[in-house]
Amino acid sequence: MRRVYIETYGCQMNVADSELIVGVLVREGFVRTDDPAAADVLLVNTCAVRDHAEQRVLSRLGELKGFKRPGRVLGVVGCMAQRLGPRLLERVPQVDLVIGPDGYRGLPELIARAHQGERAAEVEFKTWEHYEDVPPARGERVSAFVTVQRGCDYRCTFCIVPMTRGAERSRKLADVVREARDLAAAGTTEVTLLGQTVNSYHDGEHDFADLLRAVGAVPGVRRLRFTSPYPTDFTDRVLAALAGTPAACEHVHLPVQSGSSRVLKRMLRRYDRERYLAVVAALRGAVPGIALTTDIIVGFPGETEDDFQETLSLVEEVGFDDAYTFKYSPREGTPALKLKDHVADDVAGERLERLVAAVRCGAKRKNVALVGTAHEVLVEGRAKRGALLQARTRTNKVALLEGPDEWIGTYARVRLTGTTGSTFTAWPLESEGEKGGIAVVG
Ligand code: SAH
Ligand code: F3S
Repeated sequence: MRRVYIETYGCQMNVADSELIVGVLVREGFVRTDDPAAADVLLVNTCAVRDHAEQRVLSRLGELKGFKRPGRVLGVVGCMAQRLGPRLLERVPQVDLVIGPDGYRGLPELIARAHQGERAAEVEFKTWEHYEDVPPARGERVSAFVTVQRGCDYRCTFCIVPMTRGAERSRKLADVVREARDLAAAGTTEVTLLGQTVNSYHDGEHDFADLLRAVGAVPGVRRLRFTSPYPTDFTDRVLAALAGTPAACEHVHLPVQSGSSRVLKRMLRRYDRERYLAVVAALRGAVPGIALTTDIIVGFPGETEDDFQETLSLVEEVGFDDAYTFKYSPREGTPALKLKDHVADDVAGERLERLVAAVRCGAKRKNVALVGTAHEVLVEGRAKRGALLQARTRTNKVALLEGPDEWIGTYARVRLTGTTGSTFTAWPLESEGEKGGIAVVG
């Protein structure tokens, strides 16, 4: 029995891709292992969005090469593999194979060639590729990622993704629904649809509104999520589908990138500040109580202190539930590299600190106001530290509660009892009053 070990960096789509990659190898008789020392094939599924992500992979490869023995194969796959291709083989001599996001079908062949001593890179784009016939090797049952769209046709000037994942393409609605049915039959109750601009989904016949309604109608799918949508692709049809699909959760991750219309224009985002705020208002109108999270970049070329102030004021105005915040990272081959007025690193770093503080402050204000409210949660597992269970509300808030292992994978009604500002403590509603206090986790 041959064993494959895979480590995943980057976004949820990479998590889903790793399940496909293992799926390709399971068809060849492999089993997955969590122990790199026991693996015949070691793979690292990589991200190229920021330089930091690539540096982490390079240092990790330095460690993983220590597990190489004669006959064992070390491979780099994913976006960094696509971006660097054969250059990666030159840079890390212990790497045997390099495969980009459209080439995972070729993995068994490249492993065989590696056994012959041949090192190879497979970085061809295949715009038809959806791995439709590959059953993903999913570890977890209750919640599943389902990729519905690969690639990206947008051209945000900072972003490497169109160069690493190729042209946008959508799976057929019927194929997605079939996968959701199979998942539900196997006990999955939460499905997250994935795409780089997932709400621009169109399979030639059906749009994202159709997809939401169709997956939401699959018996057993109790929670439907998606990531990441593009702000201007929330059409009236999609908003109506969101409002009219009970399984669709009251949370949207809506990347804004900047609060300054001037910067948004230089980023080639397809909206300005006002349009973004209008989308926020439309989402809140369609789905009352909806939680909103976002991605923000600071230090984009040409960003002035005034521009940054507009980002801070947008954060305040929208009242995000949370945000991923990044310092702009120049990426080889992206249009932003040609823009003038690069922001000094210390200035960007200082802006990032102020932004993080503003995001935390806004999130805390929102979360404190939620203490005392009742929610349905999905119990996901044991919390990382301590003996509490970790659960998630439909609005994507993490709540910790006391309870037995049997609750894992099930739904419960809870009351939020306290917050650190970002996560909550909760009591199951049935046993409310019976239990002693659960300490607020600080
Ligand atoms: N459409 C994808 C975007 C993938 S990149 C999605 O929404 O999932 C994820 C986030 O990384 C982006 O929203 C952006 O905020 C950030 N990002 C992308 N390129 C970057 C760069 N060059 N420097 C800093 N952050 C970047
Ligand atoms: Fe990147 Fe913009 Fe597409 S952030 S993934 S180019 S929508």
